[in-house]
Amino acid sequence: MKTITSSASAKVILFGEHAVVYGKPALAMPISSLRSYVSITEHKDQALRIIAEDLQETYSIRTIEPTETNESGLVKIVKYTLNELAYTQPPKININIHSEIPIASGLGSGASISTAIARTLSTYTDRVISDERLNQLVYEVEKLYHGSPSGIDNTVIVYERPVFFQQGQPLQPLHILRPLYFIIANTGIPAPTREAVNDVRQLVLNTPEKTNMILERIGEISMQARQELMEGDEESLGRLMQENHNLLRRLTVSSVQLDTLVDAAIHAGAYGSKMSGGGRGGNMIALVDESRREAVEQALYAAGAKRVIGTRLK
Ligand code: MEV
Repeated sequence: MKTITSSASAKVILFGEHAVVYGKPALAMPISSLRSYVSITEHKDQALRIIAEDLQETYSIRTIEPTETNESGLVKIVKYTLNELAYTQPPKININIHSEIPIASGLGSGASISTAIARTLSTYTDRVISDERLNQLVYEVEKLYHGSPSGIDNTVIVYERPVFFQQGQPLQPLHILRPLYFIIANTGIPAPTREAVNDVRQLVLNTPEKTNMILERIGEISMQARQELMEGDEESLGRLMQENHNLLRRLTVSSVQLDTLVDAAIHAGAYGSKMSGGGRGGNMIALVDESRREAVEQALYAAGAKRVIGTRLK
């Protein structure tokens, strides 16, 4: 009996979250050291089984047609992929899911698991799904989790490379003069992305002039940051991160815990720091010189971070 395995990375947004939902550019990178893993084993029972031990969820699938509107994202991605691979009946397999990515933390755990499931199924079937098509399938499931996502999360995870992303535009890779070191710290508080995105939408409706100016400026920051990455200017990137964070605060998507961690990183010598992703909870990110790495990590733990991860952008 064959066993097939595959995996997909986590992601972090560097600049431009929320504004990206309104067509502004944003920058994101994969975290390749933090992954979700999927393995497929064959069995003799009738149904296809999805076993997600970390999520404490198991599902049996007996038809590849949609059976209910509120089907889990895990069931949806399996059905979408099986349809794509021209199955008419679910194969007799177990799909085992294991993820190192904290759930609801803004690190793309849902998109990563969807990507790993689709990849493993296509390898199992020996049929290739192009990255472009895979990205579309994962995006369909993202809509279920987040309502009206920009598509940045699934894109950076499916292609697993740093991206300059703008809705409706062809994918643009990010060019970086020299590797940069980032520290990501988790507040331990779930990031309610859908709620935060909806609240920004309310701001756009209630105070359009002021809110659109903020979104516009965030878009400009992403453009400038792309340039600074090409020139390797850490000081300028740090300043842009601070400005981006303050604008996100004005969009009401930061929180006391995120602000505390952002300040702690700066006081410990980071070039810059900001919340990352949907906000309210979840993660912040700091750009640091590697010589300040330990000091910043310690300061983040002392300020209440539940988990700290270092990652290099190259
Ligand atoms: C979530 O990782 C990023 C947001 O900009 C939402 C989105 O782009 O869909 C907050």
